[in-house]
This record gives sequence, structure tokens and C-alpha cells, in this order.
Amino acid sequence: MFAPDIYINRRNNLRKMSPSGVILLLGHDEAPLNYAGNTYRFRQDSNFLYFFGLSLPKLAGVIDIEEGTDCLYGDDIDVEDIIWNGDMLPMQQLAAKVGVSSVTSFENLKIKLQSEIRKGRKIHFAPPYRSDTKILLSDLLGLRIQNIESYVSKKLVHSIVQLRSEKEECELAEIENASNTGYEMHTAAMRLCKPGIPEHVIAEALEGIAASANGMTSFPVILSQNSEILHNHCHDNILQQGRLMLTDAGAETASGYASDFTRTVPVGGKFSSKQADIYNIVLAANNLAIKTAKPGITYFEVHIAAAKLIAEGLKNVGLMKGNIDDAVCNGAHAMFFPHGLGHMMGLDVHDMESLGENYVGYDDETVRSTQFGTAYLRLGRRLKKNFVLTVEPGIYFIPALIAKWENEKINRSFINFNKVHEYLDFGGIRLEDDIVITDSGCRLTGKKRIPITVEEVENEMQSL
Ligand code: GLY
Ligand code: MN
Ligand code: MN
Repeated sequence: MFAPDIYINRRNNLRKMSPSGVILLLGHDEAPLNYAGNTYRFRQDSNFLYFFGLSLPKLAGVIDIEEGTDCLYGDDIDVEDIIWNGDMLPMQQLAAKVGVSSVTSFENLKIKLQSEIRKGRKIHFAPPYRSDTKILLSDLLGLRIQNIESYVSKKLVHSIVQLRSEKEECELAEIENASNTGYEMHTAAMRLCKPGIPEHVIAEALEGIAASANGMTSFPVILSQNSEILHNHCHDNILQQGRLMLTDAGAETASGYASDFTRTVPVGGKFSSKQADIYNIVLAANNLAIKTAKPGITYFEVHIAAAKLIAEGLKNVGLMKGNIDDAVCNGAHAMFFPHGLGHMMGLDVHDMESLGENYVGYDDETVRSTQFGTAYLRLGRRLKKNFVLTVEPGIYFIPALIAKWENEKINRSFINFNKVHEYLDFGGIRLEDDIVITDSGCRLTGKKRIPITVEEVENEMQSL
């Protein structure tokens, strides 16, 4: 948690951006795993965390725009809670930690909101994404669940995106911590990656490293020797000599800030020359994106520059052909690079995604592409200082996609399908780093870059 002034300023900034009405920010309740008393690890809603800072269940914050007041709704614990779960500060003292002096019980929330609705005041709320939040909103506001979406406040969504996109110094420090834990996770994965080891042993070791830093992973670990599967959460394989193990994992700090890194390493510790050739194209695309990202450039432009470098590299090894600008314009690279270059990162690993990807990553100036591959680019808009984002180019050989394109003759003037057949068991490579946009460029997050060159990776894999 940060100092109270941080939260007071954020709420005041939000109030200044909102013409009238009441802003409702609902925190999360516990989520049952297999029965009510056995719950998933608690994770607070990120908007609530951003404006009200408290990571405890069953709280709500109300920001009254015209009155200029902030109120927390939540209940003090009783003696039964103390017996089972231990003591907790009274709500009034908890609220003081985030600069709120007005506190009342949770059941008063509905009374307050209903009274404001009767006065004709607008209740601004963000899109709910958990079912229990939708049910609660429906009850609080007297809306049918099916209709809630149409009452979401676009104004609030835009204001929150504007505030949360430019990270404050205290947030950047937390992202540094998350990145340093990410370094430990990925170097451990490199050292553990040996033939005969089950993937889940490594995946669980990474969960443990994140937890031992007093946080957790920022999303379920993606780790597989089936490295062509973009988001593979199944860790059932035994690692085999010569395969490529892709690990996409990051840490979340106790205060909720994320990191998100990917490395792809050869099981057994040595890249073959065929693997190294493709690896070095992905690495060059990653480095080019980092060199190119700066305030004022759109991330769409950086994505296209990376796509062109990938297409050029694939042409050099005989997998693509023809004019590179035309190939990328036609989306031919996307058979190999079928996703976006990156996304915003902060309190959420895909930052603010619950508010709507297009509100976060696009604007009136930069509209989302509909072309296969580029359409998955979550962030396309112009970059600003203190944006935090990922850089994650990749090259994959996905047999089902290759078969589809070949059968349907998609982009056959730019792809050498005969050569591609030699790579059907190759897997895939992604290299992901996290960056902060600075005054004139960007910098990598974390104390040290996770080993990334062929030589650095092979050396790390051989260390004990
Ligand atoms: N961790 C998923 C991603 O890189 O976007
Ligand atoms: Mn990732
Ligand atoms: Mn990512």
C-alpha cells in the first residue's frame, strides 16, 4: 500500500475528470473454490486497489463528485472472525491508511445508491467481469443482469484509463520489484530445464518463487515444450532433449503490480543451428522494438517494424519470399507471428483489460486492425512517458495454421510452404521483456535483463 496522499490525489484527479454524479468502485468478495469456506487466494479488483488501496474482501468505495466526498463501505469484524481468522484493524483505521475519513457499513451502500438514483443522479461504474459483482450491482442499482453492460459509464472508463496508463514513481518501483522476481523465476526455469524433468515441476517451482517474494504469479504460468501453443497452461509433458521450452511467466507483488516475461530455451542446454537462426530473428525483433519505442510513436508502428524484421529474417532462411513491405501489408508474416507485439502492464498483467481492450490500447487516432494477427495487437496507440508495456515478438510453426493457409492458398506468393514443411516439428519462440517509456525512449524494467542472447541462455542453463 502507498501513502494516503497517493490515493487522495488519485480520487481527486478522477473527480476533476468527471462532470457529475457518483462513482461506485466495488471491491471483490472471497471466491469459493469447492465450498464457501475454502476460497481461491483473494485478489482485489484493480480499480478498487488503485483508488482505495485496501486488499480486503467486501468493501466498496463511493466518490461523490459534486459533494467532493469519498466514503468507504465495509464492516468491522466480530468476535467470531477474531477466533477463526485473527484480529484486524477497525474499518475507520483501515480507511485512514488510504486517506478516507468517512466509513459506514456495507448494508448502507444500497440505501445510499438508491437515494442518489431517486434524486436522478448518475451512478458511474466500470464493466463488471465477475459474476458475483454483476449480481451485487444488479441488486444495488435495481438493474437486470442482462442490462448492466449498457449502463457502464464510458466516461469513467476513459478517465480511469487516462489515470492508470501513466505510471507514478511509486508504481514504477513496484513494477521493478515484480520484474526482479521475474528474473529469479526465469533464471530458475533455465537451470531446471533438463531432459526427463516434468514440465509441472518447473512451473510449480516458478509459482513458489513468486509466492516466496510475498506475492504470486501475475497469471497462470505458461510453460511447455509444445512451444508453438501461444498460451499453454497444460504442463503434462516430460521434457525431451532438443525441444524448445517456452516459459511465459511473471510475478505480482503484494501490492498488486505485475511483470510478464517470456524466454524460450533448448532442453539440454544447447540450441541447434536451425533453432539459433530462428531465435536470433526473434531476438532482433525484440531489440528493434526496444530501440524504437519512445514517446510520440504509435505502438502499431513499432509492431509493424518488428513484423517486417521478422518477415525479412524468414526470407533470409528461405521461409518467406517476395517484397517484404507487401508481405507484411498482406499479413503474410502472421502465419509465423500471429499475435500482437505487446500490451500495457501495471496492476493487471494486461493492464485495465477489464475496462475494454480498445479503450486501453486504441483511440480515435489509432483504430484496431481487423487483419488476422495484427488484430490481436492489444496496444496500438501513441506511446507516452511512463507507460509500461511488454515487447513480445515471436515466431511459431503451428501445424494446423500452416495446413489451413496452405490448403486455402493464403499468402502463397509470400510463403515457401515446401521449406515450411521442414519446420513442422520446430515449435515456437517468443521473447518478452517489459519496458517503461522515458523522456526520449524506453528502458527495460528490473535490475538486470533476463539472459536473452544464445550465449547468455546457454551459460545460464549450465550454471548450478
Ligand atoms: N502473459 C501473456 C502475455 O504475454 O500476454
Ligand atoms: Mn507474457
Ligand atoms: Mn505479455
